[in-house]
Amino acid sequence: MTGMGEAWPYILADIGPSGQLTAIDFCPAMTRVAEKQHAQWPGYNIELRTENALHCSLPDRCADAVTATFALKTFLKPQIEQFAAEIRRVLRPGGVFSLIEVSLPTDPLLRAPYLFYLKNVIPRLGKAFLGDPDSYQMLGVYTEAFKNCRLVMDCFERAGLQVRHVNYFGGCASGLVGKKPL
Ligand SMILES: C[S@@+](CC[C@H](N)C(=O)[O-])C[C@H]1O[C@@H](n2cnc3c(N)ncnc32)[C@H](O)[C@@H]1O
Repeated sequence: MTGMGEAWPYILADIGPSGQLTAIDFCPAMTRVAEKQHAQWPGYNIELRTENALHCSLPDRCADAVTATFALKTFLKPQIEQFAAEIRRVLRPGGVFSLIEVSLPTDPLLRAPYLFYLKNVIPRLGKAFLGDPDSYQMLGVYTEAFKNCRLVMDCFERAGLQVRHVNYFGGCASGLVGKKPL
């Protein structure tokens, strides 16, 4: 769920030119922009696939690592179950995964202003800088419903993955990191 390739610089810095990045997003408008990013990384192996990450065409056990940034919150729980099973399928034994999502801090003193920021400030910035009043309108709504990654951790355990929950920035983001057992 690579979007416009926002996470690529970090992934490519980690895997280097000898690694292979396979980026998936089902939205052609996103992959068209990501394709332009692609040109900025000569010498790196990047393959872009426009397809559904919940049932992709990657072969079984082909990946050393899977990552997804800011894409879990729109899924219903059955879709997260499906995504967890797909991660297990494509990872080689011992392969690792790391997922991050915008989340609600548990501390009410931080939660209330952060939710205000997500629901009111970010959409206005989206309108001002992207010119699209609909941009980011749903960010606060989805985040409020999603809450945090801990609530979907069981989907990954049931899929047979070892997983732990991580809080970032006082809970303003949360993540799941883990691996497929050997
Ligand atoms: C909020 S954007 C995040 C983009 C990028 N990962 C980032 O960190 O900024 C979520 C992306 O997930 C993609 N997406 C959502 N569900 C998907 C699915 N089932 N399969 C593939 N892509 C999906 C959307 O098209 C969108 O580009």
